[in-house]
Amino acid sequence: MTLTADEAGRALANPAAYADDARFHEALALLRRESPVHKVEPEGYNPFWAVTRHADILEVERRHDLFRNAPRPILGTATFDRMNAARIAQGTAMRTLIHMDDPDHRVIRAIGADWFRPKAMRALEPRVRELARRYVDRLADLGGRCDFAQEVAVHFPLYVILSLLGLPESDFDRMLKLTQELFGGDDEEMQRGTTPEEKLAVVLDFFAYFQELTAARRAHPTDDLASAIANARVDGERLSDMDTGSYYVIIATAGHDTTSSTIAGGLHALITHPDQLERLRGDLSLMPLAVDEMIRWVTPVKEFMRTATTDYRLRGVTIHEGDSLLLSYPSANRDEDVFDDPFRFDVGRDPNKHLAFGFGVHYCLGATLARIEVRAFFEELLPRLESVELDGEPTGIATTFVGGLKRLPIRYVLK
Ligand code: HEM
Repeated sequence: MTLTADEAGRALANPAAYADDARFHEALALLRRESPVHKVEPEGYNPFWAVTRHADILEVERRHDLFRNAPRPILGTATFDRMNAARIAQGTAMRTLIHMDDPDHRVIRAIGADWFRPKAMRALEPRVRELARRYVDRLADLGGRCDFAQEVAVHFPLYVILSLLGLPESDFDRMLKLTQELFGGDDEEMQRGTTPEEKLAVVLDFFAYFQELTAARRAHPTDDLASAIANARVDGERLSDMDTGSYYVIIATAGHDTTSSTIAGGLHALITHPDQLERLRGDLSLMPLAVDEMIRWVTPVKEFMRTATTDYRLRGVTIHEGDSLLLSYPSANRDEDVFDDPFRFDVGRDPNKHLAFGFGVHYCLGATLARIEVRAFFEELLPRLESVELDGEPTGIATTFVGGLKRLPIRYVLK
């Protein structure tokens, strides 16, 4: 059945469409070809322009003076947008880096930025390797069959986040609840039937937990990111509880499902492209390129939004002041104008100018860390992996925001 551009555009606001990778990419390819800046008016959502070409996403992100993250940084339903606007008006909305624009954004981002520089990341690397080894051992303990997405990929990056923030491993279950129940996307299975009241209880529990954390780090500063956030001063004043809490939340959530999805999707790509698995196993010096190819291939962050502050011509289309734009990163990363044979998974792809980490002032703060994590995991895994194959149908998560495989049943032999 042939899709129209309007139908393809509506897929961008349909969580279930993201779970079917092949069909989803068909829709994106059609938009790139026929209507790269396309007005989408889906039922239940406020309208937006779908921006699907690599060059156009770069142009919008470069002009952050004209295209702002506030007030609609991610795609939500019209009800979500309305509730958010009410919370902003009451001053009770969460304000993380992705909700902010300059000048506030620059100041708040600088508080955490030192912790993500390559030098600080190198100091964290031995711990990341230790955790990677622990999870490859866990794979061995599972005895040759498992759901890799649920039993391995989801855990390892969260332990890295706990180390980065300086939190004890015993807080793992609480953190998992935060990132999964609160940000489990629109997938009913991942929401585990959570009602709005239960969600509110999770939020309140977290704010209480984070307030204690802030108080503890102020009383006894330590050498970790949580302490840097708790003790930061802006114009001589400490951050409010809402701002410190929002900071911990963005680190925990942005750093979790993104990396888990890349590791699960990366392994899936290697299983379904056995020539590439053999090539990488035979030459581990390809790993840095392979890691970026896995990140391009999976592109776990499906979109961010911008709002125009002025009328603007983009690829010949007039965007009006106040209009929203959805930047489709998965589409940019299959753009035929930028990538040779974009639908080929190539562990030696070079150059690889993917936009999976975004671009410009909001460029992913954790990009170096994410690369270290994915690399450490596969460098630990591949030398021990004798064989691996699918043990059932993988399934994707239904979400318009962050995700990838929710189940990846595998059968394997480890040395
Ligand atoms: C922002 C992708 C891992 C922390 C972003 C953005 C993208 C992204 C697309 C928005 C960029 C833009 O608007 O231009 C990814 C991917 C990851 C990953 C694909 C893994 C493969 C991480 C990790 C952390 C992290 C491990 C931290 C532990 C952040 C933060 C922001 C961000 C704090 C907000 C930056 C800002 O608005 O200034 N990420 N991310 N991310 N990411 Fe990541």
